[in-house]
Amino acid sequence: MTATPDAKPLKGLFIRTYGCQMNVYDSERIRDVLKPLGYAPVDAPEGADLVVINTCHIREKATEKVYSELGKLKQMKLASGGRMTIAVAGCVAQAEGAEIIRRQPAVDLVLGPQAYHKLPEMIARASRAVGDRLETEFDTVEKFDALPKTRDPDGPAAFVSVQEGCDKFCTFCVVPYTRGAEMSRNVDDIVLEIRDLAAKGVREVTLLGQNVNAFHGPAPRLEGGADWTLGQLVRHIAKIGGIERIRYTTSHPRDMDDDLIAAHGDTPAMMPFLHLPVQSGSDRILKAMNRGHTADEYRDIIARVRKARPDIAIASDFIVGFPGESHADFEATMQLVRDIGFAVAYSFKYSSRPGTPAAEMHGHLSEAVKDERLQALQALLRDQQTAFNEAQIGKTLPVLVTGKGRNPGQMHGRSPYLQALHFDGTEALLNTLVDVKITSASLNSVTGERVRAHEPAA
Ligand code: 5AD
Ligand code: SF4
Repeated sequence: MTATPDAKPLKGLFIRTYGCQMNVYDSERIRDVLKPLGYAPVDAPEGADLVVINTCHIREKATEKVYSELGKLKQMKLASGGRMTIAVAGCVAQAEGAEIIRRQPAVDLVLGPQAYHKLPEMIARASRAVGDRLETEFDTVEKFDALPKTRDPDGPAAFVSVQEGCDKFCTFCVVPYTRGAEMSRNVDDIVLEIRDLAAKGVREVTLLGQNVNAFHGPAPRLEGGADWTLGQLVRHIAKIGGIERIRYTTSHPRDMDDDLIAAHGDTPAMMPFLHLPVQSGSDRILKAMNRGHTADEYRDIIARVRKARPDIAIASDFIVGFPGESHADFEATMQLVRDIGFAVAYSFKYSSRPGTPAAEMHGHLSEAVKDERLQALQALLRDQQTAFNEAQIGKTLPVLVTGKGRNPGQMHGRSPYLQALHFDGTEALLNTLVDVKITSASLNSVTGERVRAHEPAA
């Protein structure tokens, strides 16, 4: 007779995630790491046993949010009689380390992005009030090896981290300091994770990395040979049964090689969407940013990608008001946007980050100038986004159904172009791919009617 092990009492875990998709992925992995310890996710921090704030350091605003959030958590911790454990994870944890505990003593644990696998050990130490409350060592390989190899996906689309860190050192950016040097996972582990996800119903994977197209992961053990590129990896993943859609984010123009561009055209699972941040359209500013390419080189890459996949949606990131940006530099950015035509884009005012080279440069601009430029750029980008969405009206698109829509009888999904899409349908369609004819469009979404497959003629 086998004894049934005593069920561990469940402990409430609340994770708040700020910042990029890498943090969203990391939060999922934190949940996976803590599951064997009896932690189960709860919807609100009130009453939770463990609260993890997964932080973002990219702009000043994101960092400040962390401290105001921690102030609120301190009150909840007091109300819980001190039972609540507060952990700060992510890039602010990496950058500020022990300073966080000094500024907010209610914080129990501080752990950088390469230390999540050590969380169980840290919690045990904290409960005994012994040892270090800080883990900010860089050891990405150890982390990837230590994290559980299987996961419980949240729906039919999942993120899979394949690369971390960045060696590009753009002069405005903290990522090379908070996430460390570029490092790629090995192909065998990635394939194992994706096979497991596919077996659990995942149809779409988004390969994640701070510089994902710089991927150079060790080749499969059986095949040996040189490291694989992202193009090779994508073609390999496309062969995994059940995986019908592949995306990757975020990329750097310098790493857009010919094979990856070709894969957009010849690999049907590759979704027609490319997020390729350009930051500025001025060669002078691109140089000061240390981007390593000109505006025309970016135009040329986009032209080649569009030749391989004519309907591809292009997305980008922009920074306005970089130190020394003149009106003519800003105009060059506006011209680049007019020339390319973006389906969607994220634009930010330059935010000076301590320790980065740009913070020390001359010619910092006033908030008023940055505001004015941001508004002008965003107005143009909004027009382009609406135009892109409207251009889909009348087309029939395959849609991955990811959830219920806002209204009863409505379902929600994603188009190949990553548009949010609503259509009339039932929950039976959840997690499947259906054809939807687009009938209307707005800035942020498109709406359509389901097209049923024709019965074959008798
Ligand atoms: N100020 C403003 N925006 C920034 N980004 C990165 N660093 C900064 C900064 N210091 C933006 C870039 C990047 C995106 C993730 O955030 O556009 O692509
Ligand atoms: Fe930051 Fe530049 Fe690296 Fe992107 S490529 S993470 S902007 S340093």
